Amino acid sequence: MQDLTKQETIALREKYIGQSCQLFFRDNPLKIVKGKGQYLYDENGDQYLDCINNVAHVGHCHPDVVEAGCAQMAELNTNSRFLHDNIVLCAKRIVSTMPRGLSVCFFVNSGSEANDLALRLAQIHTGRKDVIALEHAYHGHLTSLIEISHYKFNLPGGIGKKDHVHVASIPDPYRGKYRNDKYGDEELGELYAEEVRQICENAKNTNGGGISAFIAESMISCGGQVIPPKNYFQQVYKHVRAAGGVCIADEVQVGFGRVGRHWWAFEDYNVRPDIVTMGKPMGNGHPIAAVVTTPEIAASFLGTGVEYFNTYGGNPVSCAIANAVFDTIERENLRERAITVGEYLLDCCQQLAKKHHFVGDVRGAGLFVGLDIVEDRLSRRPNRPCAEYVRQRLREAHILISLDGPESNIIKLKPPMVFSKENVNEVVAALDSVLEEYKHKIDSDPFETPASAEGRSNIKKLRPHKSVFEKLIKSM
Ligand SMILES: Cc1ncc(COP(=O)(O)O)c(C=O)c1O
Repeated sequence: MQDLTKQETIALREKYIGQSCQLFFRDNPLKIVKGKGQYLYDENGDQYLDCINNVAHVGHCHPDVVEAGCAQMAELNTNSRFLHDNIVLCAKRIVSTMPRGLSVCFFVNSGSEANDLALRLAQIHTGRKDVIALEHAYHGHLTSLIEISHYKFNLPGGIGKKDHVHVASIPDPYRGKYRNDKYGDEELGELYAEEVRQICENAKNTNGGGISAFIAESMISCGGQVIPPKNYFQQVYKHVRAAGGVCIADEVQVGFGRVGRHWWAFEDYNVRPDIVTMGKPMGNGHPIAAVVTTPEIAASFLGTGVEYFNTYGGNPVSCAIANAVFDTIERENLRERAITVGEYLLDCCQQLAKKHHFVGDVRGAGLFVGLDIVEDRLSRRPNRPCAEYVRQRLREAHILISLDGPESNIIKLKPPMVFSKENVNEVVAALDSVLEEYKHKIDSDPFETPASAEGRSNIKKLRPHKSVFEKLIKSM
């Protein structure tokens, strides 16, 4: 098959692909044709440093993962109604990373399917339907999940909040309802958790008769790379359980060792969820996801007498791939790497914040880092134009970052786990030079928008040279 030109690809995409499926850099999208490690390559062979693809967890097209998938595909692919070693070994492996009591697995194809099944398990187990989810949270694209994802249902064209859904304030210490300029971390945890307690209390008197589940990411991605206060989940789980609900940890983004210290981000909070969902990194790009729960909840599900069958969930090829991902994380010490490279990244970004007042907050754990871009540190007002300017200019430097949070002002960094300190140096140097550039731009023309700046043809070519970032790193 002959390759299409980029223009031909764009034309076919516009003609045949739903326009709701959006591209990165819509005005000038990237055509990526190859991936290796932490790098992506376009149709001209130009290399891009990938700081955002947490799905390609052990690196794009890792040869051992590719090999495991190919070998199994050449041998057999069926479904979970036949006995096969791959699914049971994969389940055993997952359970070995979980706290005691989380010992039953269900295999599905995506994070959305995992969260949908988690809600179903919770609703069957408790006999209730009401769900508490966090403000600005995203849990997937299925109807059941759009309903609980404030990030989607609350958009101007969204479906709005359903009666069975309760939204608790995002426990964001920097720009949430309660902030760290007024309260300490422990107080923040209690204040945010108290809101969940009140929701549980109020829900008892509604038609739903109480809460079935509380669902949250252990560290909140779409909401803006938010790290909740240390005691938040302990308090919340206590309130939810006292109200007869179950606690679901969505580890679709932050699981599989991304936070370094642990396999799962909820472990940073010293809690044991009743249901854990995982996906994205699990197949390093191949669609496989899972739900892990307790024998009691699994027994309630079995008690319905309704078989759970998922055509592709847990098939031999998907499980061979997931097992290879686990092997690779361990063999290449990628969790240890997430700690050392992640700490270095956090440190370099914090140094950057000392230099640039647009960087209001730097937060993260392992290779999950966010930079909150503000107009000024006092007001903490989100500075979307600056964040967008940085995103565009870094793309020109062949560094891919993206923005998140309700105001799209949080620069998120969640690269493949093979990211190196040299990569950190490259990103930080580029951020430094672009933030400096933005400051000059604003100082010289405070009314100029990034869009107008971008439209001009004399834009300076930005490609961080070694000497630039070496000088910067030395000065930190
Ligand atoms: C936290 C979280 N949960 C669930 C999902 C849904 O996963 P998928 O897109 O694989 O269905 C996503 C996707 O971005 C996510 O970020």
